[in-house]
Amino acid sequence: MIERNDLCWCGSGKKYKKCHLFEDLKKNASKKLVPKKNRLIKTGLEIEKMRKAGAFNGELLDYIRPFVKAGVSTEYLDTLVHQYTIKHGHTPACLGYHGYPKSACISRNNIVCHGIPSPDEFLEDGDIVNVDLTTIVDGYYADSSETFMIGGVSEKARQLVDITAQALIRGIDAVKPGVPLQAVAEAIEPFVKSKGCSVVQQYTGHGIGKTFHEHFSVFHHIEPDSESIILEPGMTFTVEPMINLGHYAVITDRKDGWTVRTRDGSLSAQFEHTILVTESGAEILTLTPMQRELNVRLKVGDTLYK
Ligand code: MF3
Ligand code: CO
Ligand code: CO
Repeated sequence: MIERNDLCWCGSGKKYKKCHLFEDLKKNASKKLVPKKNRLIKTGLEIEKMRKAGAFNGELLDYIRPFVKAGVSTEYLDTLVHQYTIKHGHTPACLGYHGYPKSACISRNNIVCHGIPSPDEFLEDGDIVNVDLTTIVDGYYADSSETFMIGGVSEKARQLVDITAQALIRGIDAVKPGVPLQAVAEAIEPFVKSKGCSVVQQYTGHGIGKTFHEHFSVFHHIEPDSESIILEPGMTFTVEPMINLGHYAVITDRKDGWTVRTRDGSLSAQFEHTILVTESGAEILTLTPMQRELNVRLKVGDTLYK
């Protein structure tokens, strides 16, 4: 296998990374060029472990669901997530991740992602709030989130949440072996734009497995320079569109270094699942027990989120 710093195969005498690497990546090189430690295809045993991690993360989301109500502090929700995870013998992945201080990300209204739970922040009637949970179960990560509507939300907010849930489902529905990863963005961005909303570009979905964020990035917007990857059975990654009511630009809080807000102050929503590419499409690893019970066959127009 040729490495980035080896001489290029073409005989130019240049390093591979300065010569044909980019071009080769563009031509589906997922098998040949990805270093072993970043193997994209999970083994059967790994898939079993990813299923277990996904099932627990889904269970955790259903567990927290009834507590996501007006009047509770975001810190209280974080504490519940932490305790439930530990009690079941698992590890909250966010806690300590690059110094992140809490177990969950809780992002209200104009917060796009990475909202830090706080004892001084209370959910209020009319809020939309994303709860993003990631758990490590027996060494494997599962990552999923939902945006909840608190009490009576504005019509605009309700539409945004609905469009975002649909965007996730469309993105997942585009996943099939043999298609390029960009099919996800192609299923999401035109739809979101047709509704007058925008797709956040600065944050993407990601490969996931024995590490939180692994090779490759899953764009939700059409990105001409994205690495060309052909989907194959056994790949696991997240789809997690962040959709803004206004412009897609975002700003990270300079004080805490984490909280990401819309630049124009508009509302933002997000849904996330961890998925596995199968022989015929995608398996959602992080379906919650409630979603499983609904027994929905995933197709465009289905609503997993009522
Ligand atoms: N769960 C987020 C994601 O979907 C990542 C959160 S990283 C943290 O990728 F450090 F902020 F927790
Ligand atoms: Co994620
Ligand atoms: Co997440």
